[in-house]
Amino acid sequence: MTNKKLKVLMAASEASPFAKVGGLADVVGSLPLALEKLGVDARVILPLYGSVNRRQFNLKVAAKNIEVVSAGKKEKVNVWQAKLKGARSIFYFIESRRFAPKEIYSAKNDNELAKKFLFFSLAVLEVLPVIKFQPDIIHCHDFHTALIAGLLKARKSKIKTIYTIHNLSYQGSSSPLILQEANLSAGSLTSLQRDAQDGEINFMVQGILNSDAVTTVSKTYAKEIAAPSSGENLEKVIALRKVYGILNGLDTKIFNPATDKLIVRNYSVKNLRSKQDNKKALQKKLGFAIDDNIPVVGMVTRLTCQKGFSLFNDQLLRLPMQLIILGTGFKKYEEDLGRLAGKYPDKFKFANYFDLQLAQQIYAGSDIFLMPSRFEPCGLGQMIAMRYGAIPVVRATGGLDDTVNSKVGFKFKDFSTDALIKTLQKAIKVFDNKKKRKQLQQNCMQQDFSWDKSAKEYLALYKKLLSS
Ligand code: GLC
Repeated sequence: MTNKKLKVLMAASEASPFAKVGGLADVVGSLPLALEKLGVDARVILPLYGSVNRRQFNLKVAAKNIEVVSAGKKEKVNVWQAKLKGARSIFYFIESRRFAPKEIYSAKNDNELAKKFLFFSLAVLEVLPVIKFQPDIIHCHDFHTALIAGLLKARKSKIKTIYTIHNLSYQGSSSPLILQEANLSAGSLTSLQRDAQDGEINFMVQGILNSDAVTTVSKTYAKEIAAPSSGENLEKVIALRKVYGILNGLDTKIFNPATDKLIVRNYSVKNLRSKQDNKKALQKKLGFAIDDNIPVVGMVTRLTCQKGFSLFNDQLLRLPMQLIILGTGFKKYEEDLGRLAGKYPDKFKFANYFDLQLAQQIYAGSDIFLMPSRFEPCGLGQMIAMRYGAIPVVRATGGLDDTVNSKVGFKFKDFSTDALIKTLQKAIKVFDNKKKRKQLQQNCMQQDFSWDKSAKEYLALYKKLLSS
């Protein structure tokens, strides 16, 4: 083992910068590059969605007409590949009519969504011999690729599997009939037999039971999901396994205020003053009053029930701040926030769209960054914010609890509007004290959120699996 380069394949539904909905993409897009630096041959495989820009990323055909048998029928797929500038990791893309829609998670219903990613999982195993990559480990992420662990087991493969849970609330479930698609029956694996008893196959459960190791993206979330209150009804299954908590890192090259081309003025911890220009520009762009003395509070987020929007009300909007939220998601939250923004035009702007540049400008221009999440497996926003000197105000849950302490920001335990308001008030008070504010900002910017430490933890786990 010692002289051979360890080969790892990450299988996932998203990878930045090719296809992204949430933080999963950032992790799958950057962890392999950090592993490469540690001497691992780390590659990634994902579906070729209609929205992946083949020309921009210079995708090349790697293999054509590979047969995948699903539900007894033969179907052909192609494989494309690309590399990122300055990096060695190869990204593979499986092309099939099933992934042709632009939207990553487009599907008529849950069953169809599960089917789409089950087909992807089957295809991954068929293309490996053709592209001549025989990984020691397949690292599966979230429910979409969870079945790979079981498929390998059923084939008695020597390839080891790791399953990383990024979000327990999306479990992927479908009728047991789906097993025909995988050329499996409930009897072919004990995990399937157990799972099918309630008339449903739960992909998350399959990943947890069949992989050689289960991880999640922070130590606190690993503990939380073992408890009934946050276990999303899977706490009993989770209790059967040891779940390793490994905090996500950031691509510190991309998220760097000293070089970020999308912000108005670059700055670092040594010339924090230049951050003010970004604040001014943001206030101007959004139509807020340009005022140094009002704190700009930013949020860049998906609008889902996880993110804590049920805590927002008029009382919160009366705090002395300028609030900007950038994000899209559930209609209900889009409507609620739209209504509040209409009511408080001087204090709250709601950018209900996807805009990478505005996102970076919010990190750079905000004084305070808000994440009142109901739960948060890791959370990347608070880490990016700290790198850009925006002070985080977060709910003490999952990765937020693990990354924010009193030296860098503020957190509250109770999931209540009252606790949120009180904590924001504390943060605003510190904002008003220039000396204290600067100290916190400097502490924030000096945190190490690079992948170095976490990539080493993954590597240690890979090695442990291969030696067992
Ligand atoms: C999911 C989680 C988020 C985490 C990300 C990457 O989006 O909700 O907390 O940071 O995955 O692991």
